[in-house]
This record gives sequence, structure tokens and C-alpha cells, in this order.
Amino acid sequence: MPTSNQQLSSASLTLTTEELSAIADGIAAGDPGAFVPSGTDRRWGIVVATEAYEAWVIAWPSGTGLAMHDHGGARAAVRVVSGRLRERFHAGGAVQLRWLDAGQAQVLSADHVHEVINLNDTEAITVHVYSPPVGDMGFRVDPEIDLRTTPST
Ligand SMILES: [Fe+2]
Repeated sequence: MPTSNQQLSSASLTLTTEELSAIADGIAAGDPGAFVPSGTDRRWGIVVATEAYEAWVIAWPSGTGLAMHDHGGARAAVRVVSGRLRERFHAGGAVQLRWLDAGQAQVLSADHVHEVINLNDTEAITVHVYSPPVGDMGFRVDPEIDLRTTPST
């Protein structure tokens, strides 16, 4: 069990959504695509990982996405660099829908639960900054959506 000092230390390392947004904006202003390996599946690269936050760049080819998931209690800032994603998320006891367009940014509360999918023809690139860090497992265990291999009915 952590001592009160450890709890204080851990709490002080959690960034605000404003700080997360500023980091996401800075990464988006550079060459975020350079952090993502080449390929045709959904893929990602880590830009920076600290005790306080992690920053990722994710590439979403057409038809790929993530089914409903949370972020393990982390708050986040998400910035769309290119392309367009559809997000469905839980809010007010219902599932809401919004489109995340290139240039747009969103902040996600620590209890945000959402599905994200690229329904457009072109690949989307996004920057994600999480605090506290979600770790690599956060991406590996999320359920993938791949409409390219899912038969339409
Ligand atoms: Fe997410």
C-alpha cells in the first residue's frame, strides 16, 4: 500500500488536460507521421514516455478502428493531424457520435469510453497524449475493428 508521500508524488505527476493539449499540439506541428512504422494495418509509435505522461502517434488506414474501450483512468488529449475519424462515446447515459476532422482536438476525461474508426478512404494520423501513462498494453488489449476483413451484410 502506498504511503501518503507516494500518493502525493503520484498525484503531482498527473498533467492537466490543458498541458496534454499543449503537448499534442506541439507534436502535431512537427512531423508526427515519422513516429509511425510503415504498413497497411492500424499502427502506432511512441513519441515520449515519462512517469507523468505518454505521447503516441497512431495511423488509421481506411476501415480500421478500435471497439469501445476506456483508457485505464488516464485523461487524454487527441489531435487529428490528417484524415477523419468517427467517434462514438458514452455520455449522459447514451452513446453519442461525433466526427474528428483534421486539425481538430479533443480532451478526454479519465472515465471516457469510446469507439474510434476510420470510415473514410484515406488514412488518418492522430496524436494522443495520456496522463497518467497508459502503457503499451493499453493498445495491445483494445479490440480491433477491421472493416476491410469484415464481410458486409
Ligand atoms: Fe481511446
